[in-house]
Amino acid sequence: MAQPISENPRIGMTTTEAPFIEEARERGELYIDQPYELYSEANHDAWRKLYARMTGRWEQYANDKFMEGIASLCLSPDQVPKLEDVNQFLCPLTGFRAKAVSGYVPAFLFFDCLRQREFPTTITIRRGDKLDYLPEPDIFHDIAGHVPMHTDMAFADTLVRFGDAAHLAADIAQSIPDHEERVRRVTSIVRAMARFFWFTIEFGLMRSQKSAGLKAYGSGLLSSYGELAYSIDAPEVQRFPIQLEWVINQGFEIDHYQPLLFIVDSFDHLFAEVDRLIQWMGEGKLNNVAPGEPDVNEDDIRSFLNASVG
Ligand SMILES: [Fe+2]
Repeated sequence: MAQPISENPRIGMTTTEAPFIEEARERGELYIDQPYELYSEANHDAWRKLYARMTGRWEQYANDKFMEGIASLCLSPDQVPKLEDVNQFLCPLTGFRAKAVSGYVPAFLFFDCLRQREFPTTITIRRGDKLDYLPEPDIFHDIAGHVPMHTDMAFADTLVRFGDAAHLAADIAQSIPDHEERVRRVTSIVRAMARFFWFTIEFGLMRSQKSAGLKAYGSGLLSSYGELAYSIDAPEVQRFPIQLEWVINQGFEIDHYQPLLFIVDSFDHLFAEVDRLIQWMGEGKLNNVAPGEPDVNEDDIRSFLNASVG
């Protein structure tokens, strides 16, 4: 007999506390379905609180494409979104779809998903009493921070280009006969790509198309109540026009507000910079980037060395 919801210990899709996710990971299942019935009232309440307080901030600090994306996705302010509902609005616009995952996706697989216009999406949500800081992504970060940008074709095409970059990286790595050199080279290239992704897709700023000043397009900013305003208003943040040679050599830390951010003029500009990243990769300019953050772990490296890129 079914247990009442309040007594069912399997109910709840809270970050790091969801039995459904733990079990999927134990079975080695990375790509999963979204078991919508498992979201608890507390989960929906966390979404409601997060969404309500971001609305005013988005109006003030988000770039126009994000605002258009939020409108066209028809996200509910009151309930955790169903990915299939999001995809019904998203797919016809750019071909992108959100794809539920059980946790960390090794780097090559992540970028390869983007190349196929699939966005690996976390389906758990942070606790309602910890709205502000969370080291892991959650569904609010992924769906309310990332996915609205995926409704814009220039932005969506840029993500696909990251996937092309990953394929070239795997090609390069697999062409090197010596194992040690292969690992060293792929570590440097992946570190460069991760830094570029971080300073653009996660924490990028853009010159406003309509007014003087800056707007955020990076999802780490767009999903953070405190950091979104801080990134644009705080005098202590360093903000510079994007420079590829700087970005690929610049480490970052994930556990505090970013002290350094980079600005693009437009998504066409961003796309051109990803093209240049790919060109530099082909020319060997990513083979020896500055050591430091982020860490490139063994799963990331293996994902490139074992990738099938035919
Ligand atoms: Fe993210």
